[in-house]
Amino acid sequence: MQEILSKLQDLRIEARLGGGQKRIDSQHARGKLTSRERIELFLDEGSFEELDMFVTHRCEEFGMGGKRIAGDGVVIGHGTVNGRKVFVFSQDFTVYGGSLSETNATKICKIMDHALKVGAPVVGINDSGGARIQEGVGSLAGYAEVFQRNVMSSGVIPQISAIMGPCAGGAVYSPALTDFIMMVKDVSYMFLTGPEVVKTVTHEEVTFEELGGAMTHSTKSGVADFAFDSDLVLIRQLRRLVTFLPSNNREPAPIYATGDDPDRLDASLNFLVPDDANKPYDMKELVVKVVDNSDFMEVQAGYAANIIVGFARMHGQTVGVVANQPMVLAGCLDIDSSVKAARFVRFCDCFNIPILTFVDVPGFLPGKRQELGGIIKHGAKLLFAYAECTVPKITVIIRKAYGGAYDVMSSKHLRGDLNYAWPNAEIAVMGPKGAAEIIFRNEIRDAADPEAALQEKTQEYAKTFANPFIAAQRGFIDDVIMPSATRKRIIQGLGMLKGKVLTNPWKKHANIPL
Ligand code: HXC
Repeated sequence: MQEILSKLQDLRIEARLGGGQKRIDSQHARGKLTSRERIELFLDEGSFEELDMFVTHRCEEFGMGGKRIAGDGVVIGHGTVNGRKVFVFSQDFTVYGGSLSETNATKICKIMDHALKVGAPVVGINDSGGARIQEGVGSLAGYAEVFQRNVMSSGVIPQISAIMGPCAGGAVYSPALTDFIMMVKDVSYMFLTGPEVVKTVTHEEVTFEELGGAMTHSTKSGVADFAFDSDLVLIRQLRRLVTFLPSNNREPAPIYATGDDPDRLDASLNFLVPDDANKPYDMKELVVKVVDNSDFMEVQAGYAANIIVGFARMHGQTVGVVANQPMVLAGCLDIDSSVKAARFVRFCDCFNIPILTFVDVPGFLPGKRQELGGIIKHGAKLLFAYAECTVPKITVIIRKAYGGAYDVMSSKHLRGDLNYAWPNAEIAVMGPKGAAEIIFRNEIRDAADPEAALQEKTQEYAKTFANPFIAAQRGFIDDVIMPSATRKRIIQGLGMLKGKVLTNPWKKHANIPL
């Protein structure tokens, strides 16, 4: 028996070495942690239970029969984050470049199946050269098996992808099917075809970083939700993200005792919005002043910055925040911001996370680029997402709420549960100047001083509509609140909405304008 036990120990030690010390050193030399180090850091200390440590590939071609490494290039298992169960797979670049073989895919599928059965998040750490080239279609089949599970798990359990090395070819589609993608700057990249293929096909010269680096995807393409400076920072933020989320779509998000007073007032909010309605201010300042302990985890911070989305807590309860940002494009909704916010709203709705919407929107961004780019269809995504969602929705109009964008931004008419406005809010079909130019066109044209007439009519329109009280008279706004009391009123509202039940009519699935 002793001999068997010590043999088991030896096999485990060997498996844990993956592709060997030389390749581990090379991984470290590139500033990357190994697959196992990443898991150890991500999960609560000592909580990791590894499965399938002894799995090897079955490929015989190209001399692979003599090259079998226990684990076959991916480490899988489960553990806990702040005591809550999480499943994880972590590709091991030291073993055949972390490439995906048939057996390696079977391992990934195994923990995805477990996670779906028991209702716990799956975190995938990607660091791979893609399909195991020696295996051909077996590897492609493996990818498709993973994709199918990604789709079946979508909206049932949270799925998060950490891209911590290469992720190329069709391999990118598994992360793309998950809820969030995190990347490491200067280390990870994602693309369908690399710089060499691009050069051959389109004659474009492009670097790895330009084509698929963390900054490219977190600021230009919108593929990645987060870009971090190192493996370590990514893993810390990965843990943070998991703490905001429920384990599955049947559970609420965990409640943490944040210690922040739910009745806390903030007098500085009374002075946040400038007197001049055309002057910007930083909406993020409002968000961090309102939420518990200023702890706001912004998602896609570098992309479509005219809208802010992210997670925070109110009296310990996770909320999803959506807010127009007047500092960028005056807070207008455009294609990118509509898609960004729509996806976030839908994530919150899948996972029982109440949505707080802070509105300061002068409308949809006008222009040929937007129209030709399909703003009609893409703007409709956000409208659709808000209208479809059934979680508690609290909206606060901070300043402008004009035109169709007023309707879209979680208005009462899209089943907003509690809709508040600050006293300076302006709720109208359009901005006063534009409105005056249209409805008083003739009078302005015929006036002795058209400029003065325009100004006078603009003021008249502003006086009539640039306030929240007309909407409040109709009940479209439930109350006009003091800016300083925003946090308190939202927390009271969330308390009132606890236990909200709202269901949509039966359907196979809706047909969101994709
Ligand atoms: C088998 C692979 C591999 C792969 C890397 N390796 N990728 N083995 N299949 N896909 C092996 C290498 O042979 C090498 O083995 C070790 O992993 C490390 O690779 P290096 O090239 O030394 O590392 P590096 O210089 O960092 O380059 C990393 C890389 C490069 C850029 C990822 O390895 C590369 O270009 N690999 C091929 C990528 C590729 O074309 N994959 C197929 C994509 S198509 P040794 O023994 O020397 O250490 C695809 C389709 C998916 O994935 C479709 C899904 C639907």
